[in-house]
Amino acid sequence: MIRFDILTLFPEMFKSPFDSSLLKKAQEKGLIEIAVHDIRDYTEDRHRMTDDYPYGGGSGMVMKVEPIARALEDVIRERRAAKVILLTPQGKVFNQIMAEELSACSRIVLICGRYEGVDERVRDYLVDEEISIGDYVLTGGELPAMVIVDAVSRLVSGVLGNCDSAATDSFSTGLLEYPQYTRPADFRGWKVPEVLLSGNHRVIDAWRRRESLRKTALRRPDLLSKAGLTEGDRKMLEELKADS
Ligand SMILES: C[S@@+](CC[C@H](N)C(=O)[O-])C[C@H]1O[C@@H](n2cnc3c(N)ncnc32)[C@H](O)[C@@H]1O
Repeated sequence: MIRFDILTLFPEMFKSPFDSSLLKKAQEKGLIEIAVHDIRDYTEDRHRMTDDYPYGGGSGMVMKVEPIARALEDVIRERRAAKVILLTPQGKVFNQIMAEELSACSRIVLICGRYEGVDERVRDYLVDEEISIGDYVLTGGELPAMVIVDAVSRLVSGVLGNCDSAATDSFSTGLLEYPQYTRPADFRGWKVPEVLLSGNHRVIDAWRRRESLRKTALRRPDLLSKAGLTEGDRKMLEELKADS
């Protein structure tokens, strides 16, 4: 079971994404728990201010450290150890290996920034890790938080209907996934590869491995060096090169 605590200025954004399909079922089954906290509830001034002008001047507003610190202290006070993550384009770029590592945590706190970002003291004193979901800048950390909750939750045992599906996903094997097809076998003359209709699982597995290697070599050759390839894989890659 993983509990996610999300600290945000826009709690309403999280209503529908977590209220359908697998994540909804996972919450109903008690496999994951998601609590969304409004940072504004942790302000102490009359105007409930969560942001202020940057010291030294410059455009935009910066999220204040005090409400975030208070929210964090309240949220993790009586609970077991939590991993505290700040969503920021300056963080380590999220990938499947990081999702797998996070799926071993029992408690994850996600802090969503807004405006020009958060006071630097949040990253210096309050967080364990900074994560980016890619080299582009969004208006807030809410979508990145959703991406992380989704990617991590589907790795929690029991969340996916078929426990095999995460194991063969792209990146989980170090390679992109092989092509998948479903019925009909022939649509407008666009045919499913014959081998998949053969019922011979040894041949199908070999075909899938070969296609996985082919796709990865074509689209993401950078993954091959870290994929832990076998002698057989290397031979297949040589054959694919020779064929092309
Ligand atoms: C407009 S951004 C601030 C960007 C900041 N001025 C900078 O250059 O690093 C506002 C907030 O959106 C979130 N954010 C934007 N892009 C992100 C990304 N690629 N990954 C994770 N969080 C992101 C962060 O929480 C950030 O504090």
